[in-house]
Amino acid sequence: MAHRQEIRFLLNDRQVAIGDIGASDTLLDHLRLTAALTGTKEGCAEGDCGACTVLVGRLRDGVLRYQPVNACIRFLASVDACHVVTVEHLRAGEGGGLHPVQQAMVDHHGSQCGFCTPGIVMALYALWMQTPEPTRHQIETALQGNLCRCTGYAPIIRAAEAAARYGTPATDPLNTEREAVTARLAALQDGHRVEVARDDDRAILPASVDDLAAMLLEHPAATVVAGATDVGLWVTKHFRDISPAVFTGHLEGLQQIEVGDTAMRIGAGASYTDCEAMLAAEYPNLTEYWNRIAGWQVRNMGTVGGNIANGSPIGDTPPVLIALGAEIVLRRGEARRSLALEDFFIDYGKQDRAPGEFIEQIIIPRRANGTHHAAYKVSKRRDDDISSVAAAFNVTVAEGTVTAARIAFGGMAGIPKRAKAAEAAIVGAAWSEATLLTAAASLDDDFAPLTDWRASSEYRMQVARNLFRRFWLEQGAGDAAARLSA
Ligand SMILES: Cc1cc2nc3c(=O)[nH]c(=O)nc-3n(C[C@H](O)[C@H](O)[C@H](O)COP(=O)(O)OP(=O)(O)OC[C@H]3O[C@@H](n4cnc5c(N)ncnc54)[C@H](O)[C@@H]3O)c2cc1C
Ligand code: FES
Ligand code: FES
Repeated sequence: MAHRQEIRFLLNDRQVAIGDIGASDTLLDHLRLTAALTGTKEGCAEGDCGACTVLVGRLRDGVLRYQPVNACIRFLASVDACHVVTVEHLRAGEGGGLHPVQQAMVDHHGSQCGFCTPGIVMALYALWMQTPEPTRHQIETALQGNLCRCTGYAPIIRAAEAAARYGTPATDPLNTEREAVTARLAALQDGHRVEVARDDDRAILPASVDDLAAMLLEHPAATVVAGATDVGLWVTKHFRDISPAVFTGHLEGLQQIEVGDTAMRIGAGASYTDCEAMLAAEYPNLTEYWNRIAGWQVRNMGTVGGNIANGSPIGDTPPVLIALGAEIVLRRGEARRSLALEDFFIDYGKQDRAPGEFIEQIIIPRRANGTHHAAYKVSKRRDDDISSVAAAFNVTVAEGTVTAARIAFGGMAGIPKRAKAAEAAIVGAAWSEATLLTAAASLDDDFAPLTDWRASSEYRMQVARNLFRRFWLEQGAGDAAARLSA
């Protein structure tokens, strides 16, 4: 296996090669402390505030795609063969002066103290490149991961609405130089395994999924790093040693999404954003829920496999995937096994994963006729917040009778878990409000939720029961299109 002992990437318009880096070095520290690109700010260092937003461009199937990400929890090693674009790289619009998005922010008074502004400009830049004339909803979605504590959002939203009048993405350098940058990135993708280290802090970027399997056999205690939206915080908040870390975010073989006749197969390394279109086409009722996971930047980095593997009782994908009847494929070396996702979660902090094993795929059944689906997230803040309670329903109805039900909750137990007593109360009964309310009443047999700083036990139980009523109002009461506002 050919090795390389440095990472190579494009930073704005220059190529960078670095060998002396550890697994835990962040992109933000490199930008600010080494490259002296201090336009990118550090606010929270945990992916919440968006002050550190940069664009990262990567080739996927040969196509260059830029996404806004949080540099504070993005490890430097993971930008190998990428194009990192910081706020300093924004160029003047056609009339000179500032970039169109920056000028719109100035003219619409979108900045006061200015600390959040570079991050907001980068998020709006990414939106403008993707959707020059966005709807209000698209703007709000793009800004989910950016906090501004002094301007207020109305002027920023007005700037986003106006940006298209200041210039067109067609003449932006990220488009006019796309071919040249694609060629430079293609030249950086040499198919080598990359190993870099500073002292004992080691990062390995396997050359392929097979190489990942081999590396994890060799280093069974290694930290797998996918999007780093959990692992990043282990470093920036808890100062944990993650070495040796085996990175997976560059492995296209782990990001494939295939829609087959009976099932959809998602590579464990597919990000939330990667899965969005496929889910929207198959399970449109889940779109709103999906878009309430974290903010845009984190959804571009965070993977479904990482959300499952971290085993959190309040991860948002497990309840939905369990309700849909998903399975996962675990791989150790060349050996693979399939497992119903619900069986992966054994107890709080304990999952059915052997040392050296990794999640390779998630398999979700295609939608069946006569099924009703919904997923709900209840959190203190609407955007960019962790669930107090999450619920997912998948109920099959034939001729007015419920013939099958899978209902799963997050935040109600030490693991994401099915509500089996509630399911039993539904199956075989009439598809009616009374049936769902009976099921809601039986939740006491399924769960005894904890009280913590997010919610009390009583609140969680009451909310969980109420979601059965909501499910009926949206799915059973006649007008399934009428979704209640969150
Ligand atoms: C600001 C912010 C907001 C967030 N909001 C939400 C939210 O609303 N809902 C929510 O559910 N989560 C949220 N999260 C948590 C996080 O985004 C998710 O858990 C994410 O899906 C983790 O995926 P990742 O690829 O970033 O995993 P990583 O951080 O790279 O890894 C997470 C864990 O999974 C392991 N791992 C990763 N991939 C594999 C694999 N293929 N096989 C085996 N192990 C693997 C890692 O070793 C680690 O233990 C948020 C995080 C941040 C920073
Ligand atoms: S510094 Fe707050 S998201 Fe990165
Ligand atoms: S302008 Fe001050 S935080 Fe946004």
